[in-house]
Amino acid sequence: MALTTDDPYLGPVVVSEEDIRDRTRELGARITADYQGRPPLLVGVLKGAFVFMSDLARVIDLPVEFDFMAVASYGSSTRTSGVVRIVKDLDSDLAGRHVLLVEDIVDSGLTLAFLLRNLAARHPASLAVCALLVKDVEPSVAELAYVGFRIPRDFVVGYGLDMAERYRNLTCVRRYEGPESLA
Ligand code: IMP
Repeated sequence: MALTTDDPYLGPVVVSEEDIRDRTRELGARITADYQGRPPLLVGVLKGAFVFMSDLARVIDLPVEFDFMAVASYGSSTRTSGVVRIVKDLDSDLAGRHVLLVEDIVDSGLTLAFLLRNLAARHPASLAVCALLVKDVEPSVAELAYVGFRIPRDFVVGYGLDMAERYRNLTCVRRYEGPESLA
């Protein structure tokens, strides 16, 4: 079965492939200008951010380095509880590094708040966030230096984002209109 043509759970496109590409280029150019002389360590939050980070890194014209961490949050499949556990920690020592945390999506901001607290305690020289998507909620708990798109509160999938591990390989971001768990 083709990935999307027959899938009744996939709703409208929220952010198109072309818009992601254009906006990622803009963000890359801004990051390149802002980090002259102090190349960032890109820290991706697995698994969702890996697609965005891969494209973003390639439009940053600086000798960036990569690291990844994975977190698991307790809660239902479509809502986080804010209680976050580190499943895979970073390999690098952050002390004195210019850390740019790359996130796929910020919803309640609870996961991000946890990550920022955790990373700040490791004494980086600077710490900033680049998030592809931010849901339109109350003013965020965290300052976001770089934001791709502000989107409505619907649950979305694609371009790294999943529902029960599916749809990460969609080239655009679409609204998910299926059940809260997938067989
Ligand atoms: P927060 O703690 O509520 O900001 O949730 C952040 C995390 O929940 C993200 O890093 C995603 O892993 C997941 N998440 C939140 N909203 C969505 C969505 O619409 N689609 C897929 N995952 C989401």
